[in-house]
Amino acid sequence: MQGRNLRLQNPFLLLLPHSCRQTHNHSLHLNTIAFNSNSEITKYVTNATKYWNNFYKRHQNKFFKDRRYLQKDWSYYLSNDNSHSNQQKVVLEIGCGAGNTIFPLVAAFPNLFVHACDFSPHAIALVKAHEDFRADRVNAFVADVTVDDLDETVLRDSVDVVTLIFTLSAVCPSKMPFVLQNIRKVLKPNGHVLLRDYAIGDFAQVKLLEKNQLISENFYVRGDGTCAFYFSKDFLSTLFEMNGFSIMELSVYSREIENRSRKIVMDRRWIRGVFCKPHNLQPTLVPKPDDSLFPGSKSG
Ligand SMILES: C[S@@+](CC[C@H](N)C(=O)[O-])C[C@H]1O[C@@H](n2cnc3c(N)ncnc32)[C@H](O)[C@@H]1O
Repeated sequence: MQGRNLRLQNPFLLLLPHSCRQTHNHSLHLNTIAFNSNSEITKYVTNATKYWNNFYKRHQNKFFKDRRYLQKDWSYYLSNDNSHSNQQKVVLEIGCGAGNTIFPLVAAFPNLFVHACDFSPHAIALVKAHEDFRADRVNAFVADVTVDDLDETVLRDSVDVVTLIFTLSAVCPSKMPFVLQNIRKVLKPNGHVLLRDYAIGDFAQVKLLEKNQLISENFYVRGDGTCAFYFSKDFLSTLFEMNGFSIMELSVYSREIENRSRKIVMDRRWIRGVFCKPHNLQPTLVPKPDDSLFPGSKSG
């Protein structure tokens, strides 16, 4: 192997259509998957706030880089250029962390007002302590979007754009329908949800699978106790459609990233989507309270 980069085996590529695959040496470990016990899953899901709060205490605002690419990709939805009006646009960033999505947006679009929530009080404190924080542009508040009604803090039907940037993947899949219903309440009719997140087959998923960190189908726990779900296009489109959204855009994109010091090539895979809350459309699914928390879990 000396002098050559090791191309890591990616068992998830076998699940993808041929057109999405690249040439890899496949090894199929899928039949060795064992889900962890339900008590262990409950531990990570019910204590999610604690694990993320510890994450921000440890890393402060140093872990994520500012996501400057969003302003270019999504200026259509965030600027006033296409609306023929100078009215302030209202954004709600769910799971804002230390503010790596919101501060670049506030700087790029002077007409935005941003509500930003996170269930980690430490993350919200970091946002409020940020040098660019201005209370007349940003309303930062603590909320767990799997439990707390967003319309207690944000007016119903008042938000133009909701951003979900690597946040839905942190939520247990059985709670995702509630999160979308929660968002629908505050989104204006014809308002949009802009999403970026991890896609099935991502390098990090392969590593988590190898370390037996799977807790239910496509849902993993990392070493620090935070969880990550990996999305397929089918899963995400069904989830949004069943909760009353229409799909405007949905795509998976990938990049090979070389780590020269470790001599590996990482196959990173992400999903991006734009969803719309149509006028008058009711959701076809009203989620039941959490009686089957972990669909796909095989252990008792
Ligand atoms: C990967 S970080 C992304 C942070 C931010 N969106 C960004 O662009 O950098 C995921 C964030 O979601 C937050 N989060 C996870 N589950 C949540 C929940 N149920 N309610 C509110 N925030 C949550 C975490 O605390 C964390 O800050």
